[in-house]
Amino acid sequence: MPDTAPTAAVRSNATVAPAALAEALARQPRVPLAHLPTPLEPCPRLSAALGGPDILVKRDDCTGLAFGGNKVRQHEFLFAAALAAGADTVVLGAGTQSNWCRQASAAAAKLGLKVALVLVHGVKGPMIQGNLLLDRVLDADVTVIPGTDLEVLPAHLAARAEALRAEGRKPYVFGWADVTTQAIGALGYVNAVLELYAQLQAMGRAADHIYLAGFDVTPTGVLYGVRALGLGARVVAINPLRTSVARPVEMARIAGGIGERLGLPLGLTPADVTSTDDFIGPGYGILTPAAREAILMAGRTEGLILDPVYTSKAMAGLIDHVRKGIVRKGETVVFIHTGGTPALFAYADDLALGLRDDG
Ligand SMILES: Cc1ncc(COP(=O)(O)O)c(C=O)c1O
Repeated sequence: MPDTAPTAAVRSNATVAPAALAEALARQPRVPLAHLPTPLEPCPRLSAALGGPDILVKRDDCTGLAFGGNKVRQHEFLFAAALAAGADTVVLGAGTQSNWCRQASAAAAKLGLKVALVLVHGVKGPMIQGNLLLDRVLDADVTVIPGTDLEVLPAHLAARAEALRAEGRKPYVFGWADVTTQAIGALGYVNAVLELYAQLQAMGRAADHIYLAGFDVTPTGVLYGVRALGLGARVVAINPLRTSVARPVEMARIAGGIGERLGLPLGLTPADVTSTDDFIGPGYGILTPAAREAILMAGRTEGLILDPVYTSKAMAGLIDHVRKGIVRKGETVVFIHTGGTPALFAYADDLALGLRDDG
């Protein structure tokens, strides 16, 4: 079956028993990298501050490897694919403060592979702070390219891989907007939903809503897992980046790849997806007032540190939806904290927290 949108035989309401989903996942090549399960923490003081729903935070900022984050779950499956292909180097790219690249650099170090990063300059540039500092510590081979457009990456990644091949290396590319990479990575979040389901069951609870920062891979895995298990929770992806392809279209495409890998008759259509651009603000990686408010509120009520690019905008989205009554008192929300916290240190100026003026 090609990696495309679901065919007629692939339905968006085909549910699977948890054991069958776990078995399908267990057949996928995987290397252990993450500390799992991550905690599912009640946040009573944050819930009270909002006067709204019960908020539980799924602490995927605590996946362990090199400050953790959502990509560690994805890399368990992606690095297994790279190792199976006999690679000695992985090639990938994103912005200079990329969490995905930092977690790949750590996974590569742990598995004895080299990593070549192509990083788009973006709003933070080659400042040796946060994620880029950690890339250097982890001995990543870094190339910074000018501009802010991440959609130029595929050509640069192909060229970098070609150059490595010419040097006698065996590169494996984790492609940008490449459905094979995306679908393999998303398996990590189908698995995360199984984990979440078991935790909610143990607490005697069910989620009415799941909110997360999501570009495409993570929310597709989450939505796929929720639909596969028939959980009924509303999944809301808060998108951090405007792109030429609409997120629901991309996510339906990725879901096709997940179904193909897991051998399940379940797909997603763009209409199944709730992804909003409402909290991006002026652009990717630019801190908004609402995101800043979310960082301060989560920190000061729960000691919970959010990042400036993804989770703060996702929490800003949740706060806004509570204030608008879209998410109501008495309901249960799971907020998936997807990590990214090392980037906070590159945003000290944007947060403008001085010793005397700390409001
Ligand atoms: C902290 C954080 N949250 C969310 C995301 C979005 O993940 P995905 O691209 O898998 O949807 C990223 C991706 O870079 C991230 O670093």
